[in-house]
Amino acid sequence: MSIHKEQVKSALSQVIHPEYKRDLITLDLIQDLITQEKYISFTLELPRKNDRLADQLKRECTAAIHQFIDPDAVTDITVGINISRQRELEGEQPQTSAERPPQQEPVLSGVKNIIAVASGKGGVGKSTVAANLAVALAQTGAKVGLLDTDIYGPSVPTMFGVTERPNITTQKKLVPIEKHGVHLVSMGFLVDVDQAMIWRGPMVTSAVKQFMQEVAWGELDYMILDLPPGTGDIQLTIVQTVPLTGAVIVSTPQTVALDDARKGVAMFNKVNVPVLGIVENMAYFVPDDMPEKKYYIFGKHGARKLAERLEVPFLGEVPLRQNVRETSDSGTPIVAADPASASAICFKEIANRVEQALIVRNRESGATGKIDIKIRP
Ligand SMILES: Nc1ncnc2c1ncn2[C@@H]1O[C@H](COP(=O)(O)OP(=O)(O)OP(=O)(O)O)[C@@H](O)[C@H]1O
Ligand SMILES: [Mg+2]
Repeated sequence: MSIHKEQVKSALSQVIHPEYKRDLITLDLIQDLITQEKYISFTLELPRKNDRLADQLKRECTAAIHQFIDPDAVTDITVGINISRQRELEGEQPQTSAERPPQQEPVLSGVKNIIAVASGKGGVGKSTVAANLAVALAQTGAKVGLLDTDIYGPSVPTMFGVTERPNITTQKKLVPIEKHGVHLVSMGFLVDVDQAMIWRGPMVTSAVKQFMQEVAWGELDYMILDLPPGTGDIQLTIVQTVPLTGAVIVSTPQTVALDDARKGVAMFNKVNVPVLGIVENMAYFVPDDMPEKKYYIFGKHGARKLAERLEVPFLGEVPLRQNVRETSDSGTPIVAADPASASAICFKEIANRVEQALIVRNRESGATGKIDIKIRP
């Protein structure tokens, strides 16, 4: 069983900082906590450089984790120095995170459901499904956001035809661009924006955290996250950074895609994010001149069978059709461009099943938990 973050926090609350005489959790010195099975990684954020103290605290953290959680746990502790904490910790009042007055409203407090759209394999249609799912949900009257987390290959600007730059509020927050009823944010919008938001380094995690914290998302019923392809460290970090309500896995019926989809389901299971279901994209090809024909060029019902085997809901099939590709490329997803078309109806049925799966999920496990994001100055 995977070690839970709360267990780690509880163990680290037993480690006392010798100078401030309080535990590391109360002092808010543990950042970027990630757990995966027996692997625990975090940053121990100290207000000043002190190698001896850092080594001592690292040893004590590992000892507490071994004593209170699991003697075989593997710890990976990075020491970070944040001098702006020094005055705060050594000043008079307030001192603890609990006592500190809130500086801004909690991150994503207005977002009810956060859904990741993922796959293992690239090019299977995650972004196409994410875009059409977002538009279909918005067409039901819901408030919907779409966050393109594919930092290295963003799709949202093309799929929604965004050429303008987003505005910035007086609080220096980025305002999502609204298209086809969906509030959009993508790294692709910001390529040349250097003033209001400073994107530090290539660290995907910190970019995604900024997307969460430094965007004026406002009230949303659904936030859809378009993930980059794969199930590696980047994806794992993103899904641990955001308080996900659930995940939608996209696959084509091909064996190679199914193998990767299985890895996607395993990744979400590992981090305790419920899989809302699997979408079979490019399920069959329908030629425009013979719309009654179905060609199962990538195999038949592969993703549907995978869903059955893994005992996760099957959310529906989307045919491979020229109008799906053309509308995406021209900046209006098919659900907005031709809502009555057969392809659009497939996406709307999928959106409906996602809504149903969310109702079940939220009844079983409560709404999305609060997110705790710290961005160091
Ligand atoms: N059902 C479909 N019918 C026709 N074309 C499709 C369909 N689904 C996706 N495509 C096209 O296939 C290409 C890849 O789709 P998309 O970008 O959505 O995949 P992706 O999984 O997000 O890719 P990446 O892994 O690069 O993020 C796009 O050109 C898209 O328009
Ligand atoms: Mg994509």
